[in-house]
Amino acid sequence: MKISLSFMLFLLLGAVSPSESTDYQKSFPQDIYAALREMTASLVQLKADMRFLQTTGTVMIFRQVAFSASLLAGGESVVGPSSSKITLIYKHVITNIGNAYNSTTGMFTAPVRGVYHFEWTVAANGDNSHASGAGLVKNSEHVFLAYEYQATGFMSSSKAVALLLEVGDVVFVRMFVNSVVFDNGNHHTTFSGHLLFPM
Ligand SMILES: *[C@@H]1O[C@H](CO)[C@@H](O)[C@H](O)[C@H]1NC(C)=O
Repeated sequence: MKISLSFMLFLLLGAVSPSESTDYQKSFPQDIYAALREMTASLVQLKADMRFLQTTGTVMIFRQVAFSASLLAGGESVVGPSSSKITLIYKHVITNIGNAYNSTTGMFTAPVRGVYHFEWTVAANGDNSHASGAGLVKNSEHVFLAYEYQATGFMSSSKAVALLLEVGDVVFVRMFVNSVVFDNGNHHTTFSGHLLFPM
């Protein structure tokens, strides 16, 4: 950064045309103070610009991670009920920047250490005996549950969480025991996530 600052100064000084230099020489010493004030102002602006460049440059090298998917690649179907916790594998991927979500396994794998935000929604038609529920899992640990029970009518539940993940940590959504989830072309049952910031 020191090298480029010197280089920018060199450019700045070089930008003063020969005729201007001559003018300064002619009017020396009265106007030299005005010229110095101008240069000081330019230098302050230059420093501010470089700070901005440094900041945006850092943003640009951040990993970009964001995905969004719904359950079914096509058609309409109910998953469950099951006495075991079924991992939901979201097949209709609409965004997968950074390829951290795998639609073969349903797993999101953190590519960098950082804070990530996830949202998931489950939906189903109330059948008078089953809830619609799914929990977010980090590695093997249950984090939060989205859950709803209604005897009749359409039900839907959503949840979100911010999680600090290490590189290689795995996050996925697992159905609650004996519950059901439904999806069709309206894409009710979804899973999304993105990197908020690296740490
Ligand atoms: C997704 O997971 C499957 C099964 O583990 C693996 O074969 C495949 O290479 C993975 N895809 C990507 C893009 O990592």
